[in-house]
Parts: sequence; structure tokens; C-alpha cells
Amino acid sequence: MAEIRLRNTNERITGEENVKAFLESQEVLYEHWNPDVMPAHLKEQFILTDENKQEILTAYEHEIKDLASRRGYQTWDIVALSEATPNLDAILKKFEDVHTHTEDEVRAIVAGRGIFIIKGTPEVGYFDVELEAGDVISVPEHKPHFFTLMDNRQIVAVRLFIETEGWIAHSFADPEFIKT
Ligand SMILES: [Fe+2]
Repeated sequence: MAEIRLRNTNERITGEENVKAFLESQEVLYEHWNPDVMPAHLKEQFILTDENKQEILTAYEHEIKDLASRRGYQTWDIVALSEATPNLDAILKKFEDVHTHTEDEVRAIVAGRGIFIIKGTPEVGYFDVELEAGDVISVPEHKPHFFTLMDNRQIVAVRLFIETEGWIAHSFADPEFIKT
């Protein structure tokens, strides 16, 4: 289940209802998919063939189509990152700049873990959303954020798009950003 860390105070928010209520107050969508839908032989696999990816999309077809029909997503795919990913450090470095998009950024974590760092309302400031398998998040369009991996550096996620062009990152240089 997702957990929140407020960067200004180091306060943590835990428990599904608290996390959901906090994210709702920050206009961030949070839902949960049953992680057991993930095919058992892929739960700890972070190097995926096209067949593996299709198997995951088929397993979660009901959840994906439900979310897509409610929120207008037209296409979806699978992203997998791990130490085996060529140039992982360079990819993460590129991710770790605060930026915005013209459409929302949706990720459904199906294996591994990851963190969204998001700029909240002025009284909240930047906060981390630590995600694990089953967590589904949507960062609204134009909301400054970035994504990175956690210590184990492995994740598989479903990405959903209205148009893939909407996901182009626009850098958001922010003196208020707190690095740690
Ligand atoms: Fe982004």
C-alpha cells in the first residue's frame, strides 16, 4: 500500500484511507488493483519479453479498460526498469528533474516499487508517494513532479495515455524544491 512522506516535515502518512484522503486533497488520483492478478511467474521478473508484457496487459485487461473508460485513456503499455536496463543511471538522472506534462501521468505498479515526488499545495510543499505492486496513481496535468526508483531499483508498471505526445516533459525549475 502506498505511503506518503512530506519533505518539509518528514511526517509520514500511512494506511489506505489516510493516503487516499491526503492524495485527494492534493488532486492526485489513487486507486488500488489486486496485485494477485499479476501472473505468479512474473511477480519477481523485471526483464520482460514482448510476450510477458502482453500477458500482464491481458491479466489486467478488466482493470485497465475500467480506468481507461472512466478517464479517457486511449493507449497503454508496460514499462520495466531494473539494474538490467541499459543505461539505468542515465535514465533515472533524466527522470529526476521536476517537470510537468500537458496530460496526467498514470502509473499502475504491478511489480517492484517506485516513488513519485510531487509538488503539493503551498502549505504542504513537496511530498513523496512511495508505491508498491497494486498501487495506481495519476499525477494531474501541469502538476510539477518527477519519478524515481526506490533502493531495490526495480519496477514494472502499466502506463496509460490519452495521447502519447501528452507525456512530453516540460522542465519546471523550482527554487522551492527540497532535494531530500
Ligand atoms: Fe512525468
